[in-house]
Amino acid sequence: MNVGILGSGVVGQTLGSGFIKHGHQVKIGTSSASKLNDWLKSAGSNASVGSFEEVAKFGDVIVIAVKGTAALNVLEKAGSKNFANKTILDTTNPIADAAPVNGVLQYFTNQNDSLMEQLQSKFPESNFVKVFSCVGSPFMVNPDFNGVKPTMFIAGNNEKAKGVVKNILNTFGWEIEDMGNVEAARAIEPLCILWCIPGFRENRWMHAFKLLKK
Ligand SMILES: NC(=O)c1ccc[n+]([C@@H]2O[C@H](COP(=O)([O-])OP(=O)(O)OC[C@H]3O[C@@H](n4cnc5c(N)ncnc54)[C@H](OP(=O)(O)O)[C@@H]3O)[C@@H](O)[C@H]2O)c1
Repeated sequence: MNVGILGSGVVGQTLGSGFIKHGHQVKIGTSSASKLNDWLKSAGSNASVGSFEEVAKFGDVIVIAVKGTAALNVLEKAGSKNFANKTILDTTNPIADAAPVNGVLQYFTNQNDSLMEQLQSKFPESNFVKVFSCVGSPFMVNPDFNGVKPTMFIAGNNEKAKGVVKNILNTFGWEIEDMGNVEAARAIEPLCILWCIPGFRENRWMHAFKLLKK
C-alpha cells in the first residue's frame, strides 16, 4: 500500500518506519520538511516527505498523527477531495493546551463528544477509524511485552475501513477490540489520559492496555 501520514512528530515517524518495515511505501506530510531529514536518511528508499496535500493524494490509506488542536486544520489543508472514500487511521487525542492537573491531561472535548466524531462529521465521505491513540509511540509497532499481546481498541462507522485497520494491527502485533461505531471514540480517546497518569506522576511510561476475557 501507499501510506500517507499527516504528521511529522514521533507518532508519524514511528508508524512511518513501521509501515516501511512491513513492506509499504510511506510519505509523511509536514509544513516544515527539514524536520524529517534524519527520518528520511534512516527510513530508506520507500520513504518520502511532502505537503499535507501531496500526502493525502499519495495515500491509499491515510494516517492522521498531528496535535489534536490542529487536526481539523491539517485535514482542511490536505483537501477533502484528496482523501474522500479513503480509510483514515486516526491516532489523535483532543489534548487541550492547558497543563495536566496532578498528572491528568485536560481535553477540549466533553464526555459526550470526541475528536474523531468532530472529524468524521466534518468529512463524511472519508472513513475514520480510531486506532493507536491509547498507547505510547514506542509500543505502536510490534510491542514486546514478554510474549503477551496488548489490546488495541478501535472504533469507526465503516466495516471495510475497520477491516483494513485490523489487517494492519494483526501485522503490527496487536490483539484487537472493535468497540463499534464512531461514538465509541468517546471512551477510547480518554484512555490516553489514563495511560499518561503513571508517566506524569511517577515517570512510568512502559505499559499498554490488555482486556482480560474468559
Ligand atoms: N506521542 C505519543 O506517544 C502519542 C501516543 C498516542 C497518540 N498520540 C497522539 O498522536 C498525535 C501526534 O502526536 P505526536 O506526539 O507525534 O506529535 P504532536 O507534537 O502532537 O504533533 C506534531 C504534528 O502536529 C502538527 N502541528 C502541531 N501544531 C500545529 C498547528 N498549530 N497547526 C498545524 N499543524 C500543527 C505538526 O505539523 P508540522 O509537521 O507542520 O510541524 C506535526 O506534524 C497527537 O494527537 C497525540 O495526542 C501521541
